[in-house]
Amino acid sequence: MAPKTIIVLLIAILTAVGLTSFSMAEMERMSTDDFQSPTRPAAVFSHDDHNSEAELEDDCALCHHVYEGKELVKDESSEDSACSECHSLTPTEENTISLRTAFHKRCQSCHFERAKGPVLCGECHIRKERIK
Ligand code: HEC
Ligand code: HEC
Ligand code: HEC
Ligand code: HEC
Repeated sequence: MAPKTIIVLLIAILTAVGLTSFSMAEMERMSTDDFQSPTRPAAVFSHDDHNSEAELEDDCALCHHVYEGKELVKDESSEDSACSECHSLTPTEENTISLRTAFHKRCQSCHFERAKGPVLCGECHIRKERIK
């Protein structure tokens, strides 16, 4: 191989490696702002990428649901509301699902059902230094 070809190849490999680590760093995180004194690193969740990989783009209401009292309103979506607008830190009579339970129940249960996606604490609550 001519030295020039090797250099071109090297640049190509380095660019590919660089791009991979860049996209890892792009993994978005949730916010812990709604919790009074968060104890875990914010969970990783790249909203749009996640939902297209899991084929949920047409099912916003699966996560952003609407309730009337205790009745789920089918096919209506609440994507303009934060989960914390209805789920408080401690359960209430109107809403017995605390905010933390709301997230865990929604996120973890589907990963278990489909046997895909993270189910262990440290797989979602990843410490910053572990994402390169
Ligand atoms: C499928 C992903 C996922 C898994 C697995 C998961 N969590 Fe969470 N957890 C979340 C999300 C999303 C939130 C809400 C946003 C945030 O705080 O990061 C949350 C919030 C929390 C909170 C409240 C906020 C805080 O930091 O105090 C605690 C505590 C917590 N999780 C602990 C755990 C523990 C302990 C486990 C394992 C038994 C676990 N989580 C597993 C996604 C996950
Ligand atoms: C797998 C669950 C899930 C699905 C499916 C989903 N979302 Fe979300 N979305 C979330 C979570 C979790 C948040 C953060 C909510 C919070 O922090 O209270 C969010 C936040 C949002 C926000 C607010 C963003 C911001 O900057 O605050 C919008 C807008 C949104 N989603 C739109 C949509 C639309 C439109 C769809 C369907 C095409 C959709 N979502 C499908 C889980 C989901
Ligand atoms: C418009 C208000 C509202 C919003 C916004 C909302 N919820 Fe709920 N959610 C409710 C009510 C009401 C219940 C039923 C509570 C009860 O039975 O005590 C519920 C129940 C749940 C349940 C248990 C039933 C089930 O479907 O498994 C989960 C999990 C849940 N919510 C997760 C979420 C998540 C995650 C978000 C944000 C992406 C969210 N909710 C946004 C009102 C809301
Ligand atoms: C209805 C099913 C479903 C729900 C609800 C769901 N997930 Fe997932 N999740 C998946 C599937 C399927 C995968 C694997 C996607 C793949 O790579 O094929 C996945 C993968 C992931 C991954 C690995 C990285 C990625 O994006 O592929 C993370 C992190 C994750 N989910 C976090 C969450 C969090 C946080 C929530 C709640 C806000 C959530 N998921 C709700 C189905 C779901």
